[in-house]
Amino acid sequence: MKAIKVNAPGGLDRLQLVDLPDPGEPGPGEIRVRLHASSLNYHDYQVAAFPNRVADQRIPMSDGAGVVEAVGAGVSELAVGDRVVSVFFPTWAEGPPRIGDFSFTPGDGIDGYAREVVVCPATWFTLAPREFSHAEAATLTTAGLTAWRALVVDDGIKAGDVVMVLGTGGVSIFALQFAKMMGATVIATSSSDEKLERLKAMGADLTINYKKDESWGQTAWDWTGGRGVDHVVEVGGPGTLSQSITAVRVGGHISLIGVLTGRSGEVPTGRLMAKQARLQGLIVGSRRHQLEMIRALDASTVRPVIDRSFNLTEIADAFRYEESGRHFGKICLEF
Ligand SMILES: NC(=O)c1ccc[n+]([C@@H]2O[C@H](COP(=O)([O-])OP(=O)(O)OC[C@H]3O[C@@H](n4cnc5c(N)ncnc54)[C@H](OP(=O)(O)O)[C@@H]3O)[C@@H](O)[C@H]2O)c1
Repeated sequence: MKAIKVNAPGGLDRLQLVDLPDPGEPGPGEIRVRLHASSLNYHDYQVAAFPNRVADQRIPMSDGAGVVEAVGAGVSELAVGDRVVSVFFPTWAEGPPRIGDFSFTPGDGIDGYAREVVVCPATWFTLAPREFSHAEAATLTTAGLTAWRALVVDDGIKAGDVVMVLGTGGVSIFALQFAKMMGATVIATSSSDEKLERLKAMGADLTINYKKDESWGQTAWDWTGGRGVDHVVEVGGPGTLSQSITAVRVGGHISLIGVLTGRSGEVPTGRLMAKQARLQGLIVGSRRHQLEMIRALDASTVRPVIDRSFNLTEIADAFRYEESGRHFGKICLEF
């Protein structure tokens, strides 16, 4: 079977297409999945592009979707022919988070899904939404579930809430879609006026160009009539957090998700305290959260926004495209 491997010391030019032995038949409790799609996340980019990020010869990509080809003894939840999608934390079935790293995340601490076939425990996958293509299903493992957990699981979003999403990457576009699905009002930002038009077409109620308006947090606050935003899906990190704190309402919630502007920086703690806002870090979600999100998607008309798909062998080009920031929503690999 064909697979992609990361070669030490890392870097997009060192991604290598290899031929690996077929993984064979599933043992008890396992399934064999023929993979057909993956999707790119900033996390996967860090694994592939940053030197010494993971072990030599690691198979990258956390997201995987495909079809069950065989099931081992004792597997009852999935059957041959089922269309399935991988989970981000294979060892976090349900309950509160207990994992604070990526040591057991496919495509980081263990091999991921840039390969044609995988044999693994059945619990490492769930059923995909009924109507989704493989590429659409693959977008759910990381980006979809992160947005779902931030808004639905951890904040219990409801109709009438005001949600703020930053930029037009995978997580933020899902957050916009889930917020609209739940009847929320959405404020969305982008560095591109053209992308702002697309956000409006998707239902964003207020759009702000964060490059032209550096006080976008104040603009959002003013637009809500001084009430503030109930929930900020914070994908920027230190470079955006101060404006997110300005935008959030007293008693609101900021989901600290991303590191697009860096990994550490100053936090205006006094303003955060005065806002009495909850600032919560989170990493994706549990298998139970994924099952709940997929049930909701099956009952809705929401479909992932895929900007562009590449062949598995074009993985370096796909990452270079992500690096360029030209995308809107998700970039996928199909194979
Ligand atoms: N904690 C978790 O569980 C989790 C899960 C998934 C992702 N993440 C993190 O969340 C972040 C986004 O991930 P992604 O996969 O959605 O990335 P992505 O698809 O690569 O999104 C990149 C987009 O972010 C926007 N952006 C860049 N700098 C910005 C800034 N200063 N302010 C506002 N928007 C900015 C840009 O949008 P415009 O082109 O519109 O300006 C850019 O196109 C990353 O840091 C990633 O590591 C965390």
